[in-house]
Amino acid sequence: MEMHRVTTGQRRSVGEPLGVWLIGARGAVATTTIVGAIALRHGHTGTVGLVTESDPFRASGLAPLDALVFGGHDLLDTPLVKAAHALCRDVGPLAPELVRLVEDELATSEQHLRPAPAIVEGQRPREFVSAVQRDLDEFRAASGARRVIVVNLATTEPLPAADVLALDLDGFERRLDLPGAQVPTSALYAYAAMDMDVPYVNFTPSVGASLTGLQALAQLRGVPHAGRDGKTGETLLKSALAPMFRMRSLQVRSWVGFNVLGNADGLALSDPTIAASKTESKGKVVPSILGYEPHTLVRIDYVPTLGDWKTAWDLIQFEGFLRTPMTLQFTWQGADSALAAPLVLDLVRLVDLAASRGERGGLGHLAFFFKSPVSCEVHDLAEQYALLCQHVKGA
Ligand SMILES: NC(=O)c1ccc[n+]([C@@H]2O[C@H](COP(=O)([O-])OP(=O)(O)OC[C@H]3O[C@@H](n4cnc5c(N)ncnc54)[C@H](O)[C@@H]3O)[C@@H](O)[C@H]2O)c1
Repeated sequence: MEMHRVTTGQRRSVGEPLGVWLIGARGAVATTTIVGAIALRHGHTGTVGLVTESDPFRASGLAPLDALVFGGHDLLDTPLVKAAHALCRDVGPLAPELVRLVEDELATSEQHLRPAPAIVEGQRPREFVSAVQRDLDEFRAASGARRVIVVNLATTEPLPAADVLALDLDGFERRLDLPGAQVPTSALYAYAAMDMDVPYVNFTPSVGASLTGLQALAQLRGVPHAGRDGKTGETLLKSALAPMFRMRSLQVRSWVGFNVLGNADGLALSDPTIAASKTESKGKVVPSILGYEPHTLVRIDYVPTLGDWKTAWDLIQFEGFLRTPMTLQFTWQGADSALAAPLVLDLVRLVDLAASRGERGGLGHLAFFFKSPVSCEVHDLAEQYALLCQHVKGA
């Protein structure tokens, strides 16, 4: 099949739609993102929480929010309207009256959602890749969007074996043609997108485009990608507070964090093999900012009655002058999907801008949004913000 290849290094024209393909399109974050975009378009809500609507970014030529057209894949077929009502208070962040206002348009967004292609036992992984590419191509034609950005919002996967992580591009492509070969679905999606010159964003802790071979593919094709694992709660606070201990020369002796949440993400993370992906990306931030390794612990537990309301309690023991022992504790209570959804909108606009400018490979300047940033070792939130502002203004 002749694939339509899109547009890195090209600016979208005024009024042209920007396609956003969500993997996990009926999940909590995706539904909140779509509801939020519709609500913003009609002035039913304000722009609080959107970084790209704040001052340094407003004049940087980002796609207008009303240019976004959503499509996507999910394993479930729950209608978006039903998914949105399920996220109403007290379970999630959405006000029932807001959902009622956007119901008609939510129903219209169904036209671009498709069932995720099945992974059939014994099949060559390339068949899955081709099925994804066919759906992306159809979405582009149906939506009129020359540029589409793929965003992974699917359930977190277990970490793959070390040999998969290290596969180079040749090794990865050989595996695509081996019947029954195991390749993480997030990596197959990342390959499918970037092989069509479609930028890819990984909001989850799954591997996605971070495999060695896929980073090479992004460079080869000149496609930008961003990830990994959106920084929305406890880790956001860590990356803001740990620099204070470093700057004041206070010695952190231990930093332990206990997270409880009750949504489907919380349920998935109650499987220890899946939680390993998340705790790995949450655990690196503090030592990397401090420059030494205090005792650290990250726990995530599922409490169904909390719904989308995530609570993090962190206990930080530290030493001051004369080795005086002191303690900081914080409690963070947030609606998981309301923290994540504006970042998805920000990322789509910023990745579109990067693609217009012909930027390729891992977008290190987007580290501000992620727990395990690609192509950037900086974890300090203020430094990440400065990098982002400088990059967006500078180029
Ligand atoms: N909410 C946050 O603050 C936050 C922060 C960082 C990362 N994340 C990550 O974002 C992702 C989404 O979170 P959520 O709360 O929306 O979870 P969710 O469980 O509500 O939604 C995930 C959706 O993905 C679908 N799905 C699973 N496997 C799929 C596949 N192979 N193809 C297509 N669809 C698939 C599921 O059916 C579900 O609808 C999770 O990986 C989570 O860890 C969330």
